[in-house]
This record gives sequence, structure tokens and C-alpha cells, in this order.
Amino acid sequence: MEYILRYLPFEGHVHWRQGAMLKAVAPYTARQCWGGIIMPNRVPPIITLDDAAAHKHEILVTIPEEDFESLIVGYLSEETSIDDVRRGFESGVWIAMKFYPRGATTNSKEGINSWELPFHPALKVMEEIGMPLLLHAEANVDESTGKEIDIYDREYRFIPVLEELRKLYPRLKISVEHGTSLEMAQFMEEHGDPKKLVCTVTIQHMMFSRQDLHKDGFQPHMMCYPIPKRAEAMMAWRKLGTSGKPYIFAGTDSAPHPTHKKESSCGCAGGMFTAHAMVPLYAHIFEQAGRLHNLEEFLCINGPRFYGLEPRPGLVTLVKKPWTKQSMVAVNGGEKIRPFGYHEEPEKRFRFEWQIKKP
Ligand code: DOR
Ligand code: ZN
Repeated sequence: MEYILRYLPFEGHVHWRQGAMLKAVAPYTARQCWGGIIMPNRVPPIITLDDAAAHKHEILVTIPEEDFESLIVGYLSEETSIDDVRRGFESGVWIAMKFYPRGATTNSKEGINSWELPFHPALKVMEEIGMPLLLHAEANVDESTGKEIDIYDREYRFIPVLEELRKLYPRLKISVEHGTSLEMAQFMEEHGDPKKLVCTVTIQHMMFSRQDLHKDGFQPHMMCYPIPKRAEAMMAWRKLGTSGKPYIFAGTDSAPHPTHKKESSCGCAGGMFTAHAMVPLYAHIFEQAGRLHNLEEFLCINGPRFYGLEPRPGLVTLVKKPWTKQSMVAVNGGEKIRPFGYHEEPEKRFRFEWQIKKP
């Protein structure tokens, strides 16, 4: 069986990191997509325009512009300069700003508290110039008590902040990244708007629930933020994600970590590496939902449109031909990343159903 996309896939949310890790992972995305949104939570994060230009330069050394259009995002922090935000957007150095709730996820210590976000001075300027705000939509600390919010409640506890943002900045373009909770799925269904309020959906949040995360104890390679929720929430995102709504698009949140950080005896880095099988896995989910006919909008059209870019025409033939991932991803220097679906024991490897047909 074959399925043809008439446009090239676009990655709406990916972590490429820097140095040897960047070199190891970026080619996987570039092989499948024409462009994508590169997340800024490197170490140190992309806060100034100079950081953004240097990051872009580093990417270009690995992946030339003609192979992939990398769209750089700024990291919203207390240090963010309003002047940089405006100049960087108008000159095309960066395309959006990303909010990280301080302390909620990987490399988020330079982020800001969720209750402070609506008053960040950059938002007014972003609303005025049409620059999107990307949200890691979680509230991890309760403003009034100063106590940590339960990890499973963090996304729905962010909804009041989202409502406030929409009230204070009615023209601001907002993207809720990697939606996971039932409440957020319902909020998006009610308020989603392809020009003003969109969301990205990952592979893992449509395929796995917290039952899978806790299977046989704990599965560190499935641990990611926001944490996978109940099966009902996963089903809601699978339904919404494959619905063909113009305000939803692919963003893998593929987030590589070396195995020693995932399999550590003391803590587990959050993030799944799915970039190697982005298109096959989204095709798998859409086929299972009986909605392959909505895949093109989700994978190729809606993302670029939100960012004011033209979807890129091009024929991609997907072929249903099973395969397994047979090796770890090696990083120069000796580290390894465990890609989704790989297992040391061949019979335990995930069976990928789809692949991109080689020309
Ligand atoms: O699982 C995640 N990993 N979620 C995030 O928000 C960040 C990402 C990372 O950078 O590792
Ligand atoms: Zn992310």
C-alpha cells in the first residue's frame, strides 16, 4: 500500500541541541522535512540576537540551507531585550519566542514563572508585530502558596494563564506546544483558531499514556514533559490530532538525551528521541485512526501557514513496508541516544509500518 503527500513535511517543534549532539540528530529531521522550528533551550539558552545568529551559523555548518530551513526561536527570559525581539523578528533572525516555566523541564532555569508571563513586556511588541508566542503550557508552582503543583496537573493549571494572555493580548499569535491533558484538548477544540491559537501534537502523546510510562516499573525512555496523562487524555489528543482541524499540526518534540542521563540511578532526563521516524510514526497514528486523508494538512500545511510560510510542494510517497530500528544513535565522543523503537533484543523492537519510499 502507498500513500502520497503532495507537499513536504514540516517539523513544528524539535530539539537539536548543539555540538556533537546537533551533528548526530539534525540529519534525521532534514531527511524528512523541508524546514522546522528549532527549540532554544540549549546550554546556555538562545536569549540574545547574537546567541540566535551563532546558533543558526552552527546549524548551517551541519545542515546547509538548501537541505533544510531551520527557523530559530528565542527563549523568553527576564533578560530578553524588547529591542532584540522586534529587530530579530523583522530581520528574520528568529521567528517566535518560547515560554519555559522556570524549573518545569529540561534547561528551563532561565525561564519565567507562569504567573509572570502575562506581564512580560515582550508580549505587547510581539502582538503588534505578529510574532508568535510558543508555550510550554504548564504551571509548575502555585503563585499563592509557593508550593510545587502536582506533575499531572501542571498543564490544566496553566489554562487560566492562557485565558489571561488571550484577554490581555487579543491579537497575539499563540501556539500551545505538545498538548497532553484532557482539559487542554477540550480548550483547543473550543477555541482553536489557525491564525491565533494553534497547538502541536507529538507522536508520544497520541500513542502512549501514563500506563505505558509506568509499565514494568518505569520506562525512562518514555519519560517526557509534559508527562503522559491518562489513556482518556491520549485518546482525546489522538482524536483531535488526526481530526484535520486547521489549528493542529505536527511537532515531535524529539528531544535527545544521552542514555546515561535517561538511565541514571538518580533522576531521569525528560524527552523522547523520535526524529528518526517522524513521518512513519505520524502515518501510523493517522492510519490507525482511519484518517490518513488528514495527514497532509497536519504534517505539511498547517504548520507553515501558522508561521506565515508557504507550504512547500513536493511528492512524498509513503509505503507500507515494515521495518525495525536496529541500532542506537551514536554521538561523536562516545555518547549514545536510544531512538524510539530500538531494543537490544530484536524481538522487542517496535515494528514501524510505514516508510518514505526512496526515489
Ligand atoms: O520532554 C521534554 N524534553 N520536554 C521539554 O519540554 C523539553 C525537552 C528537552 O529539551 O529535553
Ligand atoms: Zn520541546
